[in-house]
Amino acid sequence: MGGRAAGGTGVERVKVLGIETSCDECSAAVVDDGRTILSNIVASQIEIHRPYYGVVPELASRKHVEWIGPVVEQSLAESGVGMGEIDAVAATFRPGLIGSLLVGLSYGKGLALTLDLPFVGVDHIQAHLYAPHLEQEISYPYIGLIVSGGHTLIARVETFDRFEVLGTTIDDACGEAFDKVAKFYDLGFPGGAAIDRLSVCGEPEAFRFPTPSLHKGDHRYDVSYSGLKTAVVNQLDRFWDRSFPKTPENIAAAFQKTAIDILVERVLRACKDTGLHRVVAGGGVSANSYLRSRLGSEDGVQAVFPSLSLCTDNGAMIAGLACRMLSAGKASPLSLNAEARVQSFRRAYP
Ligand code: KG4
Ligand code: ZN
Repeated sequence: MGGRAAGGTGVERVKVLGIETSCDECSAAVVDDGRTILSNIVASQIEIHRPYYGVVPELASRKHVEWIGPVVEQSLAESGVGMGEIDAVAATFRPGLIGSLLVGLSYGKGLALTLDLPFVGVDHIQAHLYAPHLEQEISYPYIGLIVSGGHTLIARVETFDRFEVLGTTIDDACGEAFDKVAKFYDLGFPGGAAIDRLSVCGEPEAFRFPTPSLHKGDHRYDVSYSGLKTAVVNQLDRFWDRSFPKTPENIAAAFQKTAIDILVERVLRACKDTGLHRVVAGGGVSANSYLRSRLGSEDGVQAVFPSLSLCTDNGAMIAGLACRMLSAGKASPLSLNAEARVQSFRRAYP
């Protein structure tokens, strides 16, 4: 049973219901004490969006409206925690698809109001970074690497809700590039996981794709994927080593290696410049097997990855981070609104 702190600044032991609907996963979880996952229900909309080879925002928000009630009920039932035993409600409020965000945020605020509980609005990017903290003790500061369908961000992370953005993508996000290449070559949906699977049987040397040269000043830690995407999609033969066959497996492996090497180069640069050796990754692309092995085998780097189920969007990371925020006295007003974008998280925004 969670309890209010006897004194101090906030709530010490809490059971938080966390809701995540920023994109196409409709998820709710109950987390105790910022660490123990009592339930984590993720209702995936993959089958709904598969015919379109991408997430259709209008369809996503409509499905969230349908699913959010049952998903929350199921997460409470599975956690064994009654509605009356929850200490706070949390929901993602930014960044994401605005219609999708609004469903979970409105539901969460409504529930908190009805149950007379504190409400916590959670930043999705901070929550991805918090995911591995649900599984192990990780001390701050460290280099954070968020790689998802919407973001690619390298940051110096000071604590659970404070980081300095060092680099972002200047055009496409890393996961977005995986998804677009997979769509063009009909490799499968969602694209990242499909390319990862195909790459296992592919030869990365079959194509030598160009990499962006963003080495200076403001762009020192930035990445760019639109050039790579164009090369893979429109100029494949230019970069083809004809001693290898032009197979989907080889295209996937060569693209994946280039895309991840671009990222790892910037991360290592950030480690060197800051003197930080710990790298904590999060977001859907952190499930990538080549990224995990590449960064994991880098000398002098302690790479921390969440379990695969916590890499992609889930309610547990929202509830977990909210526990920490409550302990720091950071509940949110019910007037909190959804925000589709955070300018500093993605330089590519117009
Ligand atoms: O974090 P996430 O679930 O949603 C966003 O916040 O965007 O990330 C989804 C992204 C998609 O672009 C998907 O293709 C990519 O993560 N992804 C992967 C892998 N699994 C998912 N990319 C590369 N390798 C994977 N194994
Ligand atoms: Zn995400």
